[in-house]
Amino acid sequence: MSESSQTLDNHTVKATTIPGGKAAQSHSLQIQHIPTMREFAFTPLIRIFHWTRFLSILILIATGFYIAWPFLMSPKSTDVLVQGWLRFGHLICGFLFSGITIVRCYLFLFSKDNSERRSLKDALRKDRWIAQIKAYIFLGKPDEKAGLYGPMQLVTYAVFYTCSLVMVFTGLALYAHVYHQGLGGLIYEPSTWLVKAVGGLANLRNLHHYFTWVFIVFLFLHVYLAIWTGLRFKKAAVDAIISGYDYHTEEHLSVAAALSEQLSKKQEQTDSQNANTPKTKTPKIDTSNTDTQK
Ligand code: HEM
Repeated sequence: MSESSQTLDNHTVKATTIPGGKAAQSHSLQIQHIPTMREFAFTPLIRIFHWTRFLSILILIATGFYIAWPFLMSPKSTDVLVQGWLRFGHLICGFLFSGITIVRCYLFLFSKDNSERRSLKDALRKDRWIAQIKAYIFLGKPDEKAGLYGPMQLVTYAVFYTCSLVMVFTGLALYAHVYHQGLGGLIYEPSTWLVKAVGGLANLRNLHHYFTWVFIVFLFLHVYLAIWTGLRFKKAAVDAIISGYDYHTEEHLSVAAALSEQLSKKQEQTDSQNANTPKTKTPKIDTSNTDTQK
């Protein structure tokens, strides 16, 4: 039996023996210290909403396609339980999805924390668009953002939310035309307006069906870009939406420090120009929570 030994020598890992009695090889792997700045990005509520919505979209796509094509039932069968349970699942997730979509729209517009709204500042600036596109095509470095999302990300999310609202309204109108009691009865009258606007119930159903593809494309794009961004920019990686914290590397730390210095200088200039004005606090980058990651 071959033996293998591993020594952990102050960040250096060495593998010294090779199984099977072959000629011994050794290699060392240097583990670097990467100083990082930890920044709180997503509250627990936002993270719970994110993962609940992710799960509900997956179930909505699967059950929705089954509603459209109930392939498990033979044409002559009277057993409608499969369809019934899957419809039930679709509706539970549909209402969950509707609730989260509406609350998230509200939070974007009115929440106390304006980190999402601040992204609008970047989206309205041409130089920020150019900087982001250049970074994406490997022609530039990632730029510091005013808010949580870059301009392209914000536009993608705006399209996603618009499509989500289309699904919510068409879904609720379909629900009201299938279930006439309770909530269905309550929203029946207003939903007839939407049915007329799209030219009938069949068109409404088609609309609801076609928009499903937007979510399928979005899911792939979103997961791919989340992983890619983490690898390319060494920040805003997938773990941020799990732990809530975003880690910035040393490079970002120095960009942030430079920005902080610029702001301090500006503040000093303003203060000296207007000596009578009471001094305001200079925004400083808090590096006290600078962690050392292995
Ligand atoms: C991302 C979200 C959603 C996706 C991907 C989705 C997908 C689908 C699909 C593919 C169908 C089949 C349409 C067809 O017959 O061709 C369907 C049907 C249906 N959806 Fe959704 N849906 C979503 C959200 C909702 C919401 C929010 C509701 C309302 C609460 C809803 C309620 C319904 C109802 C009632 C039907 C059945 C319509 C009928 O009986 O013909 N859906 N959905």
